[in-house]
Amino acid sequence: MRYSEDVIEEVRMKNDIVDVISGYVKLQKKGSSYFGLCPFHNEKSPSFSVSPGKQMYYCFGCGAGGNVITFIMEYENYSFGEALKLLADRAGIVLPKQEMSQEEKQQEDSKKRLLEVNKLAANYFYYQLKHPQGQDGYAYLKKRQLTDETILHFGLGFANKTSDDLYRYLKNKGYEDSFLKESGLVTIEERGGHDKFWNRVMFPIMDVNNRVIGFGGRVMGDGMPKYLNSPETRLFDKSRNLFGLNFARTSREKYLLICEGYMDVIALHQAGFTQAVASLGTAFTPQHAVLLKRYTTQVILTYDSDEAGTKAALRAIPILREAGISIKVLNMKPYKDPDEFIKNLGAEEFSRRIAQAKNSFLYEIDVLKSRYSLEDPEQKTQFYQETAKKLLIFSEALERDNYIQAVSREHFIPYEDLKRLVNQFGSRLGIQDSYRAFGRIKENGSGAGDRFAVQQEDKNTTGREAGKKGRGKNEKEEKTRQPQRLLLTWLIERPSLFAKIEGIISAEDFVEPLYHQVAEMVFAGHKAGEIKPAGILNHFINDEEEYREVAALFNASLKESLNNEEQKKAFSETVRKVKKNSLDWAGRNARDIQEFQRIIREQAALGSLHISLD
Ligand code: GTP
Ligand code: MN
Repeated sequence: MRYSEDVIEEVRMKNDIVDVISGYVKLQKKGSSYFGLCPFHNEKSPSFSVSPGKQMYYCFGCGAGGNVITFIMEYENYSFGEALKLLADRAGIVLPKQEMSQEEKQQEDSKKRLLEVNKLAANYFYYQLKHPQGQDGYAYLKKRQLTDETILHFGLGFANKTSDDLYRYLKNKGYEDSFLKESGLVTIEERGGHDKFWNRVMFPIMDVNNRVIGFGGRVMGDGMPKYLNSPETRLFDKSRNLFGLNFARTSREKYLLICEGYMDVIALHQAGFTQAVASLGTAFTPQHAVLLKRYTTQVILTYDSDEAGTKAALRAIPILREAGISIKVLNMKPYKDPDEFIKNLGAEEFSRRIAQAKNSFLYEIDVLKSRYSLEDPEQKTQFYQETAKKLLIFSEALERDNYIQAVSREHFIPYEDLKRLVNQFGSRLGIQDSYRAFGRIKENGSGAGDRFAVQQEDKNTTGREAGKKGRGKNEKEEKTRQPQRLLLTWLIERPSLFAKIEGIISAEDFVEPLYHQVAEMVFAGHKAGEIKPAGILNHFINDEEEYREVAALFNASLKESLNNEEQKKAFSETVRKVKKNSLDWAGRNARDIQEFQRIIREQAALGSLHISLD
């Protein structure tokens, strides 16, 4: 999408970055900046800064940085256009109609149409449920003790026994076969279109903005598969959406309940636990954890109490832990799942179980223990060893000790002995650092250890990391880049320095292409009386690697400030280096002998260049 620079800049200026980010991250004022816990990586002490002056954010921990628009892009996982729209709406700005490329237009249209058709289908299914042709479905939901109110709230419906009625209905609305196929609601065969869902109770799946993006359909009775879900489409990404989150996000509880099934979520909400969500018939993913992290830092797992549920919990725990979410596990016994539990013991008892939910690490140890026969001394020893190894995931000594105490108390393992064992494993492996250490244990691990090993998720290389690597400039290049970068950051930080370099350095002297672009804007801004870092950043917004680097440029100065004597000397030195690089570069690119001679003269003069800061 192409918006004019003026429009982009207007949207940016009318959305104060501190206001906007405060809506997502708890910020505290420190000096001229605000600090908080970085939403883009897991940390315990705040290194995420927001500068009202620069209208930028920057994380000293992970290097994430940008302006208010890139913040929304990264936080909400939005495209530039979507982020701009959100901020424009927020500031009451009406964006001009867009000239989109053919492809963009098609993508937008197809997304919009998918939403439209899903909504139509959801209404259609609901209508069926409430009419004679849907009475089986309605009776089924009633048997499962759902009220009409709940059915309406979740928009539950029914796909009846006619095999192509939805197809015909949508055809009549003007949708063509190829599109309907893309929607996942029908299959198109030689003999014509057929409904994908047939004789099933339908659960519309909504995104956090209450838009229907797909469906889950439960078979009536015992057929297979029990649940059929929409295929993934442009809209529907199972690893990035959670059933019920559209409601749960506004629940008043500080924590969310994560369960396995649609019916569990619905039963819980009906019983007043509106903080319940479920993954969409898939395993819990790191993307789910990132999504949850936007809404909470605490979850309680309410997975089924059978073997499959236990396994699912053991897989989800490390993923959530890695995302910095604190996790407890609820004991549902003697019932299989929340739905059954509530039906049998009621909401009050469920609340009690919530209060008693177990720390996820201690839960992991319980499961571990259940896999050994402790009457056998050898197995018992193994259990202790695996427990000790597992305790090493806590890199922080005090935290580790708290867990050693808790485990020794719960499992009657003498504290000193357990502690010795933990230290023994730790030092044998030269471990300081938790997760890495545990990964190593896993690699050489014994059988029992493997069964239980904390899953080492392949860390998706984020754009940020890729950017760092991708840039992978060699040392020589870095030697010419570094002074340019430093000088730019100083000029941005202290415009008074412009006077010191007047006649010596201009934007042309920044020869690294990216810095050159920035320098031109910085110099122009200075001339016009104000440098606007966040505005300059707009120019790089389409390239993640570039805007990160430019953002770093505007924030590096906080680290590399000019406050002491050494730094003052460094300034003079840096100016000289930048000029020298620039002249070298010009020398290599000189068009004629006169120009070359001029450059030589300037190079010679460099030796006597001295710039005093005072
Ligand atoms: P009910 O029997 O209706 O109470 O189901 P449930 O909600 O208790 O679900 P269950 O514990 O059997 O499964 C949990 C979740 O896994 C379901 O909500 C579905 O999302 C998913 N699931 C279950 N069975 C299937 C299946 O056969 N195929 C697919 N794709 N997903 C399934
Ligand atoms: Mn169930």
